[in-house]
Amino acid sequence: MRATPRHRFVHRFRANSDGPLHDLDADPISLLPVVYHGQPLTHVAADGTPLPSTNSEAAYVLWLVERLGVEPTQQILEIGSGSGWLLAVMAHLAGPEGAVTGIEIIPSLADQSRADLAELGRGNARVLTADATCEPISGAPFDRVIITAATWSLPAAFFDLVAEGGKLLVPLRLPRDEGCEVTLLRRESCGFRAEWSFPGFFVPLVGASQSAEIARVRIDEWTVQAGIDAEPSLSYPFWFASLAPSLPGTASPAFRRHLAMTEPGFTIFEPAAARPAAAKWLSDFGLLDGKAGSAAIMRAGRLIGYGAPTATRQLLESYRRWCDLGMPGPTAYKLQVIPTEATVSNETAALTEVRGDSTFIRSIDAHAGAWCNLLERTSS
Ligand SMILES: C[S@@+](CC[C@H](N)C(=O)[O-])C[C@H]1O[C@@H](n2cnc3c(N)ncnc32)[C@H](O)[C@@H]1O
Repeated sequence: MRATPRHRFVHRFRANSDGPLHDLDADPISLLPVVYHGQPLTHVAADGTPLPSTNSEAAYVLWLVERLGVEPTQQILEIGSGSGWLLAVMAHLAGPEGAVTGIEIIPSLADQSRADLAELGRGNARVLTADATCEPISGAPFDRVIITAATWSLPAAFFDLVAEGGKLLVPLRLPRDEGCEVTLLRRESCGFRAEWSFPGFFVPLVGASQSAEIARVRIDEWTVQAGIDAEPSLSYPFWFASLAPSLPGTASPAFRRHLAMTEPGFTIFEPAAARPAAAKWLSDFGLLDGKAGSAAIMRAGRLIGYGAPTATRQLLESYRRWCDLGMPGPTAYKLQVIPTEATVSNETAALTEVRGDSTFIRSIDAHAGAWCNLLERTSS
């Protein structure tokens, strides 16, 4: 941090995304506390337009870089290098015998970052202005690659960016835009295998391969479109380890993750009336089976079905399986990412999901994160 001051890489910005507009070049001294307050800074263009780019919260990003394992002499790539600050940090860690390359799609940011890197004397850093999802990247394979934007699919060319045994750290978008799982992937001969993951939020990676934005569903609109009764066809208590029926139970986030990781029909249901942003994590979730005209929704202490009972049955079956596995938590899901063209059927996978050029194969290692293990430990 001391060798690579953050204030040398931010210019016009807002703290978080909604604070007042700051111009560090016009007011360098009084803005230092804002720059070092430990918050993401959103870049703003010269004409005042907000840019879809942030300088992420410094401590968090440095922790991720530590997980990535950046060391002297490595060849490193950052996709989405933005202000160039993180690139400068990694150039420092890679040392004079290592080198870092940044790819940034916004030309004004790429230009500014080149100037700031040169002024700080980081001669082992270069920045290319390009859309990384479709333009060729020279210098591959790299020992370490970090993508600092939320990614839906890994384009085919990304597999060859990482040397065998090398690592890729990437925020992978969860289905239905439930945020990201920031995942450390190790390059193996046939693709990537996840070594570690952690929840996080990043600006999205833009590009044609990233277009799979799946909208949340409003059940009142969906029933009209599907031509089924707007009234629930079933509704019964499903308290789900909750002490208060109006709140989701404590196990609910873990089961929600299980559905997201294993059921293609996993859906988040938008409430008819707008809710405050803080209630995002309390949104209703469940399964949707469009073909059968069936929906099953877990809503604060109840399981509610619309149309045919197919989705409800599927949800209960999934719930039983999750219980039998010992209620696995988020760390139990193991991920392999392989090029879609190389995909072979895998009988043991909990869910195989084709995302454009890359296929995500998830399996469950219940022992790694099951709630029953936690309970056993607590009771002993
Ligand atoms: C969170 S910012 C990275 C911040 C950076 N680490 C720093 O220190 O300032 C993510 C960046 O990814 C860039 N980006 C998004 N899609 C891209 C793409 N397809 N190719 C290259 N850059 C992209 C955005 O413009 C944005 O600047």
